[in-house]
Amino acid sequence: MAVTIGSKTLPLPILQGGMGVGVSLDRLAGAVAACGGMGTISTAACGFQEPDFDRDPREANLRALARQVRRAREMAKGAGLVAVNAMVATTQYADSIRTALRAGVDAVVSGAGLPMDLPAIAAEVPENPAALAPVVSSGRAAGLICKVWDRRYHRVPDFVVLEGPLAGGHLGFSPEEASQAQAGRPKSLNVLLREVREALAPFQEKYRRDIPVFVAGGVRNGGEMARYMKEGAAGAQFATRFIATEECDASEGYKQALLKATSEDVVIVKSPVGLPGRALHSPLIRRVEAGVQPKPERCIRCLAACDPGNAPYCISRALVAAHRGDWENGLFFCGAHVEDVTSMSTVRAQMDQIMEEWRNASV
Ligand SMILES: Cc1cc2nc3c(=O)[nH]c(=O)nc-3n(C[C@H](O)[C@H](O)[C@H](O)COP(=O)(O)O)c2cc1C
Repeated sequence: MAVTIGSKTLPLPILQGGMGVGVSLDRLAGAVAACGGMGTISTAACGFQEPDFDRDPREANLRALARQVRRAREMAKGAGLVAVNAMVATTQYADSIRTALRAGVDAVVSGAGLPMDLPAIAAEVPENPAALAPVVSSGRAAGLICKVWDRRYHRVPDFVVLEGPLAGGHLGFSPEEASQAQAGRPKSLNVLLREVREALAPFQEKYRRDIPVFVAGGVRNGGEMARYMKEGAAGAQFATRFIATEECDASEGYKQALLKATSEDVVIVKSPVGLPGRALHSPLIRRVEAGVQPKPERCIRCLAACDPGNAPYCISRALVAAHRGDWENGLFFCGAHVEDVTSMSTVRAQMDQIMEEWRNASV
């Protein structure tokens, strides 16, 4: 059941997916790691609660990130692993990774773009040989990343997160694919898993090591995780179900919005950076659809690809508003199966339930 991740061991085959902005910080990540899973802090605008964030977001984010990584590791007490999720598309990508590595993070997970430079950035902090992992949505992307890492850095990923079209947040699929998935016709994670494992196979052979693949996006329970594990996955990454926990770093308002939602409240949105994303159909999204949302006034340059002059709204501010539970102005990212989240619980209860379902399905 334990999974080897680089030079470390993950006792349980469960990853908690990174959730920005502020949904997965030290409290959630530390609690998951304390239970033997991998808890993930999202680096996206993680310093938004710092007093100087408006004046100097860069400094605020890096200071907060270092503190959050240290705190999560203290909470974990060595039971599980603490990771950061850094999106390639963010302007502070490399700085965030270096900061997290210096603070002692166990793993760096990187998506929203192809993390071709991740090994070079990590090599700048040689004292921390943390595990490095890309988030991919196809076998093609997994193969391309391995090819480039092999050629340039003579290494391969320590693990891979395969995110399918039912995930929350930004998606690596076209709006049509994401909508079809929402309508019950997803490109099956099983098919994607097979493609990714085929793409990884030559590199596993060359480096004589396993590259564990964790499936993510609409994995409903431990029983489904067990089925994917029979198909060759090392485990699964879960995100949405961890929002309705006491330890989740989002506000009570975010948690309540999710608890009230049904699958009919979930829509595919086009985020200001042009990528499709999955979120609740909140008043902000309705105003954008109706063309009546005022354009953003200020910009903190959080995403490299964002053109603030043409963006329909500021994604950082909308995600911070959601974190605070501001239903009118928030962008509430969520996975496709919000209807499964029906009551508040704790991280320990979630982890125990997933593992019990996994055991029942594995006998
Ligand atoms: C609120 C929310 C925010 C997310 N933010 C990020 C993010 O910043 N970076 C990322 O790689 N994935 C992000 N994701 C995707 C998750 O990490 C995860 O892979 C996926 O949602 C798992 O599917 P599930 O929510 O159905 O369990 C987010 C998901 C949610 C629900």
